[in-house]
Amino acid sequence: MAQDDSGSVELTETSSTALEHPVEDERLGDPGTAVILSDAPVNPGFPPHRPRLTDTDPKQNRRTERTIFTLFYLSIAGSVWAIAAYLAFPIESGNMHDVRLSTMFIGLGMVLALLGIGIGAVHWGKQLMVDHEGIDIRHPVRGTDETRERSIEIFEQANEESGFGRRTLIRNSLIGALVAFPLPAVVLFRGLAPQDQDPIKDLKYTMWKKGVRLTKDPTGLPIKASDVTIGSVFHVIPDGLNDAEDMLDEKAKAAVLLMRLKPEELHVSPDRKDWNYHGIVAYSKICTHVGCPVALYEQQTHHLLCPCHQSQFDITHEARVIFGPAGRPLPQLPITVDDEGYLVAQSDFHEPVGPSFWERNS
Ligand code: FES
Repeated sequence: MAQDDSGSVELTETSSTALEHPVEDERLGDPGTAVILSDAPVNPGFPPHRPRLTDTDPKQNRRTERTIFTLFYLSIAGSVWAIAAYLAFPIESGNMHDVRLSTMFIGLGMVLALLGIGIGAVHWGKQLMVDHEGIDIRHPVRGTDETRERSIEIFEQANEESGFGRRTLIRNSLIGALVAFPLPAVVLFRGLAPQDQDPIKDLKYTMWKKGVRLTKDPTGLPIKASDVTIGSVFHVIPDGLNDAEDMLDEKAKAAVLLMRLKPEELHVSPDRKDWNYHGIVAYSKICTHVGCPVALYEQQTHHLLCPCHQSQFDITHEARVIFGPAGRPLPQLPITVDDEGYLVAQSDFHEPVGPSFWERNS
């Protein structure tokens, strides 16, 4: 290992034989500028090279080879499985049973496909590819002055020869064409939204309205306030959701988490004083970052965690964001109970659910 005048480090020994003999602790530099500590540790070098079993035992080598190509074939089988599952369990019906089977079997196929490639490639690299220890020479990132001057020369020459700087009409029209080029994609994506409906309105309102019972997901059984004990959490859908025409779309907006805290633990603003029922609170399950389901509840801290990008929401403070990229609190669903003691909504959410950018259009 050597250090040049500019301070960059250059490593020169590369063979594994050399690594078996630790390099002496050398410090090169201008006399008078090098700092040498009297108790500096000696560079121990790299540990001795140990041959792998696959290098010394031909049978093990062949066994490993078989394992690796079996993993790759398993990956192919996983991909075929995923395609077959997609065809075998169509989700167009909106039937939850089909959707679950489809998700499960496609997921299993894709897991097998990815794991097969991943484990096979790692195994190949570690067990069969040449086991050679090398050292890369470390260079300064900045180019030399000559290289930089030459780059500028080439740039200016290219500018001169192409006429990019001189022919402003052509240049500006090209920039305009490049800016306009992605615009059709915007229009095409707009076409993916329901044609006969207003997507903003669709996203702004959910199935919740005054008197709709809170029911368990997925059974649809109504929930009594007395069922919700302190520390428990329920995944909730509105009553009637399972019979809705666009059941999945509606569920993607209306899914709610229900929790019970001690009333004194809740810090509520005056306009939300009656939005909870004896400490039972309901919040949208759709993360305000990019819409993943916020499904992890930590009952000791009363924090909800979104597993996608780790946003955390504090239920004791109206689900405000305490960590992560989410831009605003989870919308709260005002709730109460009906005559029979079942939990019901007081109204729809008072703000759009899901990613914050929808708010800009509301
Ligand atoms: S979607 Fe929840 S943190 Fe990103």
